[in-house]
Amino acid sequence: MVEAIQVNDQVLQFKGKDFLQLSDFTTEEILYMLDVAKEIKSLQKQGKPHAYLSGKVLGMIFEKSSTRTRVSFEVGMLQLGGHAIFLSSKDIQLGRGESISDTAKVLSRYVDGIMIRTFSHESVEELAANATIPVINGLTDLQHPAQVLADLLTIQEHKGKLAGLKLCYIGDGNNNVAHSLMEGAVKVGMDISIASPPGYLPNGTITVNAIKDGGQTGSNVMITNDPVAAVQDADVIVTDVWTSMGQEEETEKRLKAFSAYQVNAELCKHAKSDFIFLHCLPAHRGEEVTAEIIDGSHSVVFDEAENRLHAQKAILKLLLA
Ligand code: CP
Ligand code: NVA
Repeated sequence: MVEAIQVNDQVLQFKGKDFLQLSDFTTEEILYMLDVAKEIKSLQKQGKPHAYLSGKVLGMIFEKSSTRTRVSFEVGMLQLGGHAIFLSSKDIQLGRGESISDTAKVLSRYVDGIMIRTFSHESVEELAANATIPVINGLTDLQHPAQVLADLLTIQEHKGKLAGLKLCYIGDGNNNVAHSLMEGAVKVGMDISIASPPGYLPNGTITVNAIKDGGQTGSNVMITNDPVAAVQDADVIVTDVWTSMGQEEETEKRLKAFSAYQVNAELCKHAKSDFIFLHCLPAHRGEEVTAEIIDGSHSVVFDEAENRLHAQKAILKLLLA
């Protein structure tokens, strides 16, 4: 039987679902996940038990490098009373050509959930379509939803709210973090502005859907080539690397294309005076952000990194318990 959670007049169902992108969830579901994350964070800080996943096992497939995602999912499972298995694509048969669908069907016979970090978003969708257990997206070229759930938690903690804020993203609009931020921001009623150079604007379908979702929550979506226009009166400034994993051969071209899109003190003057700065990390000081900003008083990047743990424990509890 699927357990249902009643919030106001809505019935929320998480158990057995996948976590592939934030656009799959309603506003109420995202806000509920954040509430659960805060509750679990508080239990952990007080040293109180919260072994909701006793005896459960998460398989974690990694086709790209990771520090935060790997460690926070692995520690999260342990703190929830379960266990995580790290499956590098170099070591499992997937890396030697075994199909995604066979991998999904086999892992579904052993573990209770799969987390995957890979290149193509379609691979994650194929894995989820063939698995009989929840699949969690730990980053694809298109989306990084677990990161953005942690970002929303961080913003809520520092600003006391989400709806009505303005979030500004500067840099590569056509990347995983920018796309998930767009989807997440409009679901919770935040305005979002994205400034990217020509040729690096966000995915068209994600943009159109975000504008549509924003119509429901009152969120504005602004896409521009002008960083100063985007950052005007922002409460939250976010950036990400100019060269994402898998794009290394484009590094030189990207350094040139993004040179006017650095988050620095001059640009941040146009934001609200109490803006906060977020970056999913890893960061390249002197490229997408200056050391002055990322190591300065407005930066909350290490709270943000910590919140990966708490937000993901909420996802794991809701999907697997
Ligand atoms: N932010 C993030 O996903 O970090 P990792 O690549 O270290 O997992
Ligand atoms: N956009 C970055 C995020 C890293 C967590 C990348 O894909 O490399």
